[in-house]
Amino acid sequence: MGSLHHFLTMTFVQQTGPQRLERCPEPHQLTDAADNVVQYDQVLTTKLAIAYAVGLEIVHRARSPITAGSAVDLACGPGHYTLCLAQHLRYDAIEGIDLSAPMVETARANADRQGMQNRVRFRTGDVTALSDVPSGSVDLASFTDAAHHLPDLDRVERVLREMERISKPDGLVMVMDLVRLRTAELTERYVQTLGHDYVARGLPAFFDDFRNSMYAAWTADELHGAIPRDSQRWWCHIVPRGLPTIQIILGLPVGRQKLFVRSGFPWPKDQNPVPPSMRWEWRLLRWSLALGSRRWVPPTR
Ligand SMILES: C[S@@+](CC[C@H](N)C(=O)[O-])C[C@H]1O[C@@H](n2cnc3c(N)ncnc32)[C@H](O)[C@@H]1O
Repeated sequence: MGSLHHFLTMTFVQQTGPQRLERCPEPHQLTDAADNVVQYDQVLTTKLAIAYAVGLEIVHRARSPITAGSAVDLACGPGHYTLCLAQHLRYDAIEGIDLSAPMVETARANADRQGMQNRVRFRTGDVTALSDVPSGSVDLASFTDAAHHLPDLDRVERVLREMERISKPDGLVMVMDLVRLRTAELTERYVQTLGHDYVARGLPAFFDDFRNSMYAAWTADELHGAIPRDSQRWWCHIVPRGLPTIQIILGLPVGRQKLFVRSGFPWPKDQNPVPPSMRWEWRLLRWSLALGSRRWVPPTR
């Protein structure tokens, strides 16, 4: 199902015509039902592992200092991306925040299992109101696969402003999320292509969540509109060419417009977090991101 032929066909359809699919918000803003939490905990065995790897590589290439540092991962869910920040990017004081108590419990259990509990802590909290996180205190603020869970763009903008506020001037802000596709037919095709085996593998709730997320996702133009316009930073919005399955926004260290300051991967070859069976799709996504669009929002002087 996930063949190159399918992706090329979907790419063609995505490129031909205006955006027709209206947004349908998530049925539940928080992920706290038992089945959904347990099944989302399997996220690294699904194709979302590809997006995680790309998100880690982008932070690696864009961050200022390369070793250690502090990070806050917003709407962290079961904490897999959060734990990857410690494992692959060597951040050493990391806080994951989610408003779903069962997600936070699951994330703590994952940290314990990996022996990371001293470097990575998890707590409940609302990411639209981070008044308990001091201004200018972290080297990285990340927010992955969750902007589409918020009910409106005002709240997304509020989160981006908070991310900027809590980041050190030389820190990095990173947002990654899905992209709503052009039509319902294309969305169904894409959801089946990526998730056709989730039900067979015992992940029906994950399949439903993924499908709902594709309808709740922001288009690239919508998410672009949530970037703060009165910021100290250069912001860059990267959208892959062809079939835009993810979008990434970086708020660069204050005073820097150069997007990437190093190349390569943050892991040795034998520790690539993408399972071998998904590597061609991972390469395709990296390639389409490298050729993708980069829209800039300048700082206010
Ligand atoms: C699809 S999960 C993403 C989890 C994780 N960031 C990842 O990339 O795997 C979305 C998460 O956002 C959380 N969430 C939604 N609204 C939130 C809010 N206002 N504050 C904190 N967490 C929120 C949900 O509970 C859920 O765990």
